[in-house]
Amino acid sequence: MELMDSVLIVGGGGREHALLKALLRSDRALCVFAYPGNPGMERDGCMLVDQEIADWNDLAQWALMNDINLTVVGPEAPLADGIVDIFKKEGLLVFGPTKAAAQIESSKAFAKNLMKKYGIPTAEFEIFKEKDSALAYVEAKGAPIVVKASGLAAGKGAIVCGTFNEAKRTLEDIFDKKIFGTAGETVVIEEMMSGPEASVFVLTDGKGYKVLPVAQDHKRVGDGDTGPNTGGMGAYAPATGVVDAATMARVEKEIIVPTLTAMDKEKTRYRGLLYIGLMLTADGPKVVEYNCRFGDPETQAVLPLVHCDWYEAFSQCANARGNISGVKWKIDPGYCVSVVMAGKGYPGKAAKGKIISGIDAAEEKAADVYFAGVAAKAVEDKKNNDEDKEKDRKKYTTAGGRVLAVSARGETLTEAIANAYEAAAEIKFEGAVYRKDIGAKGL
Ligand code: AMP
Ligand code: GLY
Repeated sequence: MELMDSVLIVGGGGREHALLKALLRSDRALCVFAYPGNPGMERDGCMLVDQEIADWNDLAQWALMNDINLTVVGPEAPLADGIVDIFKKEGLLVFGPTKAAAQIESSKAFAKNLMKKYGIPTAEFEIFKEKDSALAYVEAKGAPIVVKASGLAAGKGAIVCGTFNEAKRTLEDIFDKKIFGTAGETVVIEEMMSGPEASVFVLTDGKGYKVLPVAQDHKRVGDGDTGPNTGGMGAYAPATGVVDAATMARVEKEIIVPTLTAMDKEKTRYRGLLYIGLMLTADGPKVVEYNCRFGDPETQAVLPLVHCDWYEAFSQCANARGNISGVKWKIDPGYCVSVVMAGKGYPGKAAKGKIISGIDAAEEKAADVYFAGVAAKAVEDKKNNDEDKEKDRKKYTTAGGRVLAVSARGETLTEAIANAYEAAAEIKFEGAVYRKDIGAKGL
C-alpha cells in the first residue's frame, strides 16, 4: 500500500481553511492535521491536534511523533516567533520564512531599510525611537503623513494622519500611551501615497518564484469603502483592472526580483509566500508593505484559481534543494470572488453564539465556504433537527468577528460576483453583515 503524506497546517482562520481545500484538491492522497484548525477544516476531513501544545517546540515534537512530512504555516505570529527555525532544527520540512526572513513583515523598519538599500520603490520615510525627533520630522514634512508602528500590530499599526495634530496625537498614543506595546517602540513615518491597492502573492524558494493571480482586498467594513478598517471584508482575483500584464511585468522587474535578491544578499533568503501590498501611484507601482504569509481573505479568492499539486509546491519552497519553477501549474482563466460574512458589531465586538444555517445549500451552488470565527457543537437531539443537514450533524455558531467567507468562480468577474452573492444569500445567522460590492471595483 502506498503511504499517504501527512501535512500539518498551523493556524485556524479562513486562510488556513483555504490552504487545506487547495491541498485536498490535488490527486495526491493526503492526511492533513491542523493546529489549532477550525470546525470547517474538521468538516472537510482535517484532524485537529487534540493535545495541549505549550509552545512551538512542543508542536515540533508533536509533528515528529506523528510522522508529519510537511508543515504549512498560515499566520505571521508563529513565523515571527521563529516556528520555521524550530521545526527545521528538528529536521522537519516546513513551508514559511525563517524568523530572520519574516522580519520583512514583523519589522517595518527592516523592510523599509531593505527597500531603501536596494532601490525598491516605496514611500519616502524615516525611522524613530522617541517622540521628540518624530514630532520634529512630522512638523518639517507636514500632513498628510503616515505613522506606523514597526512591529506586528494585527493590521492596525498604520495610521494615515490627515493633520499635524492627528499625527501628534498618534505619536503620543504610540510613545506615551504605548497602544501598540513593544510593537510601537520603533516607529516608521512615511509620505502618504495615493492610488488603488492590490495584493501580489509570490510563491518562492528564494530564487525561483511563481506569481499568483493578483487580488484586491476590501478593507473597510462598509460598501463603497466606508466605515472603519477591518481585517478584510472580501476579495476578488484576478484584479487585472488594477494591475494589468504590463504593470505586472514592471512589478516583477522593479519589486519581486529585487526583493528576493535583496533578501538573499542580506543572508535572509526568503522561502515561502511573500505578500506584496502594492499601491499603484502616479509614479508607478510602489510597496506599501510586505507580509510574510498569505493574505486573508485574498487567499480564499486566489487559490481556487490555481491548479497545482500544492503539497509539491509547498515542499519545493520548503526544501533547501527545492525548485518551485519546476512545479506544474495552471491558472484558471476565470475569476473568483470571496465575500466575508461578519457578526453584527464587527470590527468592534461582534455577537457570538448565533446559529449559522445554509452552509450545505451554499456549497450546492458550487461555492466554497471557508470558516473563520465559527464554533461547533454536536447536535444532541437529532429528531428536533430534521432540517439540519450539515455533513457531520453539528451545529455551527458564530464565534468571532469575521465568521466565514463564501467564494465562487465565474468565467467573467460579473458572473463570479453573482455566483458568490447567490451562495452567500443561502447562509443565515442573526445579525450577519457583509458588503454588497465585493469585486465591483474590478468591473
Ligand atoms: P500597512 O499596515 O503598512 O499595510 O498599512 C495598512 C493600510 O494603510 C494600507 O493598506 C494602506 O491602505 C494604508 N497605508 C499604509 N501606508 C500608506 C502610505 N504610505 N500612504 C497611503 N496609505 C498607506
Ligand atoms: N488582507 C490583508 C492581510 O492579510 O494582511
